[in-house]
Amino acid sequence: MPPLVLTTWSFGPVANEPASAILRAGGAAIDACEAGAIAVENDPSINSVGVGGLPDADGHVSLDGCIMTDPDQCGSVAFIRRFANPVSIARRVMEKTIHVMLVGEGAEQFALREGFTPRDLSTPYARAEWDKWRADPRTLERARYRGWIPPLNVEERARSHDTVSILALDKRHRLAGVCSTSGMAFKVPGRVGDSPIIGHGLYVDQEAGAAAATGNGELVMGTCTSFLAVELMRSGATPLQAAEQSLQRIIDRFELLPDHQVAIIVLAPVKPDGSWAGWASAAIKPGFHHTITDDRGTRIEPPTHVLAP
Ligand code: GLY
Repeated sequence: MPPLVLTTWSFGPVANEPASAILRAGGAAIDACEAGAIAVENDPSINSVGVGGLPDADGHVSLDGCIMTDPDQCGSVAFIRRFANPVSIARRVMEKTIHVMLVGEGAEQFALREGFTPRDLSTPYARAEWDKWRADPRTLERARYRGWIPPLNVEERARSHDTVSILALDKRHRLAGVCSTSGMAFKVPGRVGDSPIIGHGLYVDQEAGAAAATGNGELVMGTCTSFLAVELMRSGATPLQAAEQSLQRIIDRFELLPDHQVAIIVLAPVKPDGSWAGWASAAIKPGFHHTITDDRGTRIEPPTHVLAP
């Protein structure tokens, strides 16, 4: 039962610890989600989010993020290259502008005006990984702009696009969500994925529920995965049915490649009569884990359902 925080991947405890402390103290779901994102973004050992994120094909780290509590309460930034906390900048966009999304130089100028401190996002590990990737003969033999060339081994592939998506439900039964990512490792410079796009990487509607995705952004963007999951719940689906059906849409409409993976976390709203349909997660393939923190503590678990085991 609420309050609870549900996060993608096994690095979720980094997010869930500060997030759940805020929820236990009676704080707001949106503050919990932002605190969780900041903790992951500032952890240089997590190489798919924030400081330490793996760079693009030119060796530059660029970050994307968004935050949402309702259709009229959302903010987003993309292609952030000098600031570690895109979710916090996205929150300022939501709270201080009439806009939803700022990108690139304009977003960075906005962040500067808002008092965020610029910093170098790269780490020795990320630079070494980029050097290794560039030295890979497959990288050299393919034209740079023809697309992403995945890391060589399966473990690295799984780590190369693991967005942190956080959903929370607070004691007052308010939902919130955030996404934060450095995007696909070694992406074509300028590429933006699903994570900062409202309705793709994240969607929250206090009446219908919340959903957030992780994995290959291009698959999520083609099917509006998070919006679809929330709309399915609005039509009566349980969180698990919504998670399964939104991922099934990807399976039905894409030719999945060996490196393709998408997972989703889904959270139902507490209804005015006090009933609650709970939460779920699902993944197209094995390998994904979520992290849940509720009245039973924090657990890293495999998804509720894997569609193509
Ligand atoms: N899901 C993160 C990305 O594709 O950028």
